Amino acid sequence: MTTLSSDRVRTTLDALYADEKVKDEPVVAAVVAKNRPLGSYTHQEQTEMLAEAYISVPREVGDLLYVLARNRGAKRIVEFGTSFGISTLFLAAAARDNGGEVITTEWHAGKAEVAAKNIGDAGFEDIVDVRVGDALESLKELPGPVDMVFLDGWKDIYLPVLQVLEPSLAPGALVVADDMGTLPEQPYFDHVRAGGYHTVQVPIGDGLEISTRVD
Ligand SMILES: C[S@@+](CC[C@H](N)C(=O)[O-])C[C@H]1O[C@@H](n2cnc3c(N)ncnc32)[C@H](O)[C@@H]1O
Repeated sequence: MTTLSSDRVRTTLDALYADEKVKDEPVVAAVVAKNRPLGSYTHQEQTEMLAEAYISVPREVGDLLYVLARNRGAKRIVEFGTSFGISTLFLAAAARDNGGEVITTEWHAGKAEVAAKNIGDAGFEDIVDVRVGDALESLKELPGPVDMVFLDGWKDIYLPVLQVLEPSLAPGALVVADDMGTLPEQPYFDHVRAGGYHTVQVPIGDGLEISTRVD
């Protein structure tokens, strides 16, 4: 049996997905009613507008993250964009089964606090480090080589966040960027498609750009 299919993790994920169903709809409706693209707001404004929303990965993306992390044998996994911790739980389950750890970062302190509680409910408090603040700062100090990265914060800083992490990437590290089908980021594509990575876009969820370091 995998950690992901354990009662404790399944029960926690079921409760979070049920809560997301209730909480996200009014928040997203209020954003849509403003009739302005999300990208036209500052990061601070976006973070405040979405402070009550999960905007999590769907289960199939979480399952894929688990499969990729297990298959890579990832021992150190870094996540940009914790929200309330749903994707973190899939990554942490893989880290547990690989004998590893997850470092995740969330700008909004209230969200990070709830995420830490959810991570504890699932039994991962010993292997997940929730860092509060801007990922561009909070991910500068890492304890060692990074085997896998999951990018799921605001899209226009995927490239600078990856560049902060690049000196720490293990040979052949896996980098997964969410929402690249619905919110494509050309500077990010130009970077990962330029030769330092082998990369493919997978039409699952909102589109994952999955890249492996060529070292
Ligand atoms: C799409 S949500 C993450 C969803 C989460 N990965 C999941 O699947 O459950 C994006 C999150 O990134 C956070 N975020 C955005 N910019 C950030 C930054 N510069 N540093 C840290 N967190 C950031 C937002 O506050 C928001 O909670």
